[in-house]
Amino acid sequence: AEEVARIAAAAPDWPTLAAAARSCVACPELAATRRHVVVGDVPAGGRARFALVGEAPGAQEDATGRPFVGRSGALLDELLAEAGLDRGHAAVLNVVKCRPPGNRTPKASEVARCSGWLRRQLELLDPPVVVALGLSAAKWFLGRRITLAAVRGRAHEVDGRAVWATYHPSAALRFGPNGAPRAGLLADLRAVAESLP
Ligand code: URA
Repeated sequence: AEEVARIAAAAPDWPTLAAAARSCVACPELAATRRHVVVGDVPAGGRARFALVGEAPGAQEDATGRPFVGRSGALLDELLAEAGLDRGHAAVLNVVKCRPPGNRTPKASEVARCSGWLRRQLELLDPPVVVALGLSAAKWFLGRRITLAAVRGRAHEVDGRAVWATYHPSAALRFGPNGAPRAGLLADLRAVAESLP
């Protein structure tokens, strides 16, 4: 974790950081089973109006090297559009950059080792607003002891940014179009849209 943090912190710009992350082997199991390191998407021009942060790549993301391009990504795109948010202005990132086998939840040790990349990505992109999608991302920003129910629906100030935490689109898929997570995610994205500077 210290080595990743040191390398990441020394990266002066996004391309240098991305190249270093793509060759990361800090987590032996993930490095052996992944096809791509999913570094994340940045808006053309380099500055992000807001950042979306997920948990870790799934199968489609691992296959393509791009974040949120599978079923969760399709629903995310739909809800962003419905909320009036433009994915083209967003940085799309994950807490963990490699797909955990079988889409298991990343281990705390993997989150710890990978964290230096996300920390530096946020420094370089400096988004004023961050939307944490799902509990893993919410915990990364707001602490290990939180529940989503307790933190969602409002902004939390973390390191000078407004951090929102909401449902992961995969929960919205799991509970269906009439389930609470889809409605909650959409409501939270609408609130984010209204809050944008
Ligand atoms: N789920 C995530 O958390 N991140 C992705 O990039 C894709 C699915």
